[in-house]
Amino acid sequence: MNKESLTITDNRTGVAYEVPLFKGNIRARDLKQIRRDPEDFGVMSYDPAFLNTASCQSKVTFIDGDQGILRYRGYPIEQLAERCTFLEVAYLLIFGELPDSEQLREWVNAITHHTMIPEYTKKGLEGFRHDAHPMGMLISTVAALSTVYPEAKNVIDPEVRRLQIIRLIAKMPTLAAYAYRHSLGYPYIYPDNDLNYAENFLNMMWKMVEPKYVANPVLARALDILFILHADHEQNCSTNTMRCIGSAQTDPYLSVAGAASALSGPLHGRANEEVLHMLDEIGSKDRIPAFVKGVKEGHGKLMGFGHRVYKNYDPRARIIKWTAEKVFEVTGRNPKLDIALELERIALEDEYFIQRKLYPNVDFYSGIIYQAMGFKPEMFTVLFAIPRTAGWLAQWEEMIRDPEQKIARPRQVYVGNGVREVVQTREKVTR
Ligand SMILES: CC(C)(COP(=O)(O)OP(=O)(O)OC[C@H]1O[C@@H](n2cnc3c(N)ncnc32)[C@H](O)[C@@H]1OP(=O)(O)O)[C@@H](O)C(=O)NCCC(=O)NCCS
Repeated sequence: MNKESLTITDNRTGVAYEVPLFKGNIRARDLKQIRRDPEDFGVMSYDPAFLNTASCQSKVTFIDGDQGILRYRGYPIEQLAERCTFLEVAYLLIFGELPDSEQLREWVNAITHHTMIPEYTKKGLEGFRHDAHPMGMLISTVAALSTVYPEAKNVIDPEVRRLQIIRLIAKMPTLAAYAYRHSLGYPYIYPDNDLNYAENFLNMMWKMVEPKYVANPVLARALDILFILHADHEQNCSTNTMRCIGSAQTDPYLSVAGAASALSGPLHGRANEEVLHMLDEIGSKDRIPAFVKGVKEGHGKLMGFGHRVYKNYDPRARIIKWTAEKVFEVTGRNPKLDIALELERIALEDEYFIQRKLYPNVDFYSGIIYQAMGFKPEMFTVLFAIPRTAGWLAQWEEMIRDPEQKIARPRQVYVGNGVREVVQTREKVTR
């Protein structure tokens, strides 16, 4: 008997089945052979919310949740944050290796020259209310790009894919900044090719009447580091959405719009915005114990705490704390930091949080930095979506190339009524 296998005995029939292990896992399809009788559909695995189901093989990102490890393509997140730029990391995620000097020059040049969005797409923003949430505007305008680049639907062609990847990474900051400027009623600022990725985003966000925008280098680098930390996180809710929509061979603009929609939920990318609202609600350090007591009694969650995968400190939160210090040297200390630090201290000593292995996640401190840099809470999820686009696209590219992947289509366990007859007892309504 193959040692790399499981023996499963069906106690209904007494039949034993040998199921091979594949990299330590079983293939759910192998369960199908386990049947009560020839008419039986066969056993499926039932796993709501994918708590213990791998949907793909991936070489992009490695997470060890128990040890608090995060690596992109094998490189520890700490080293990437310290030694690389976001565009180098985006290249790494998509192509699998860090670029050499020539590849980097070409890549940066390509991204820099695709940052503009068409004027008619820009004008489309005028259709939004003045107080529209920027995430809704971002999602809609990235979807609108699907109509601008109809060739993008040819997802089987690697060259077509490559061009859309460049366009998407280049244009997301422009769309994000335009959404913000719309909410302020300010004119939109065109991209500036002299600036790097983060600086150019800050330029499109903040430039007023000065002839040339000059970004503070500490803040621009801090933003670049935050972009690196948010670039990918393996099969999270929005990435799963990207792969799922992409599996229908939908074009990448529409797939990214879907992924960004998933990101906008408060349990996922909008948690950073919710953290700020929570800190506002707490207001002062002396009110923390009462707030924590309320959470333990089931009144809401401690936003920015807990993670499906990390059951140890989120390594990104550690780097963010360090980045916060650098930012506050320029902007002055955000008073919310003291409330957050005290909240973390109290929570980490509390049996409720210890037992459930609830630690601060990436969103706990990122909002405090963003706010100190001048971003409004509504922009926080948008700031997450910009770099995560690189991760979504890396995972999408991997999915398209994977011969094992097909259109994503889970099964269900039907628990509704058996067949029944329609009996006409109501009077007809003709209208
Ligand atoms: C991230 C998150 C969705 C993960 O959810 P999950 O893996 O499904 O974990 P569960 O909801 O099963 O949580 C396990 C237990 O911890 C509790 N819990 C989880 N996160 C909590 C939080 N932030 N505050 C208080 N309690 C929390 C749950 O109520 C549950 O308790 P129970 O066993 O007594 O019922 C969840 O931790 C959460 O909602 N966090 C706040 C939102 C957030 O910060 N999201 C950003 C993630 S990067």
